[in-house]
Amino acid sequence: MRILLHRADGNTAPWVADFAQALPEAEVVAWKEGEAVAPCDYAVLWSPPAALVPELQHVKAIFLTGAGVDAIMKFNDQLPDVPIIRLGDAGMAVQMAEYVLHAVLGYYRRMPEYEAQARRGEWKQLPQHRKEDFTVGVLGTGVLGMRVVEALRHFGFPVRGWSRSAKSIEGVASFAGMESLDGFLAGSRVLVNMLPLTPETNELLNHARLSRLPKGAYLVNVARGAHIVENDLLELVKSGHIAGATLDVFANEPLPAAHPFWSEPRITITPHVSALTLRTESVQQIAGKMRALARNEPVADVVDRQRGY
Ligand code: NAP
Ligand code: GLV
Repeated sequence: MRILLHRADGNTAPWVADFAQALPEAEVVAWKEGEAVAPCDYAVLWSPPAALVPELQHVKAIFLTGAGVDAIMKFNDQLPDVPIIRLGDAGMAVQMAEYVLHAVLGYYRRMPEYEAQARRGEWKQLPQHRKEDFTVGVLGTGVLGMRVVEALRHFGFPVRGWSRSAKSIEGVASFAGMESLDGFLAGSRVLVNMLPLTPETNELLNHARLSRLPKGAYLVNVARGAHIVENDLLELVKSGHIAGATLDVFANEPLPAAHPFWSEPRITITPHVSALTLRTESVQQIAGKMRALARNEPVADVVDRQRGY
């Protein structure tokens, strides 16, 4: 078995070593631009450069080292008709739960306001928010979104979820489809975005939709920057309609130095770290799926190329 490996950071050696341990029968070839590659059975990558795409013509499946699929789906027309298999959790869900819970609890316990007071040397107790006024709306109740829902429920937050297909989740108000989005937003004091980026969800959160959130709402975006029209968000934060935003992802990454988000104190910025790919867990999962394919067994997390995620 030959595996073609690409890492955008160029740090292929530990991945090659882990695959050698997990699949001793496999030969792993790290892709280098300009070097000829003998045909491979599988590719393991996440955000391939355009020059790599022709090498995928001979593979039997493409394995992604991430949960999101937008970076490969932009080449959809050039890809062979083989399964594209993304990571299913692989240690990401708990990281998402940690990140989102940290942000929601921070807003709920008024931490940004206390931090600002402390910088001014001000000792003042603010009225405590009440959970019944702090409904969290989770856009996207998939593999990662469901773990976040569970964590929020554990802390007693009222939770609502929005997905493409109708769902019944115990203790969660479930909304499905575009026609239910405005009502979903209107009742979300905190909006958490966990959607995949597809043609339907690109720039979903524009001025009109974000204005549906109640005044003083908060936004946590851990999905993709392109889900949000960034200038619209900035305007709504500056007007006070949105009281604060925690953003892990941006339309352009790294966030350009001159971007106005950097100087807006009500916007918290992290560099796309809410759920990192964990190498050991990922290699184990991918190797297991390769073995299953070799036995002609079905595997989970196959991307629906029509749906785009
Ligand atoms: P997933 O299991 O595919 O779940 C996607 C969810 O979004 C599903 O509930 C799906 O609805 C819903 N959805 C998709 N299109 C929709 C639409 N048009 N309208 C309404 N709902 C829609 O994905 P996941 O594994 O949870 O990952 C979610 C996203 O997290 C990834 O795509 C990626 O962008 C992001 N991510 C970010 C990081 C980071 O570090 N920032 C790390 C990993 C992942 P159905 O349930 O009805 O299908
Ligand atoms: C990271 O953003 C991922 O989609 O895995």
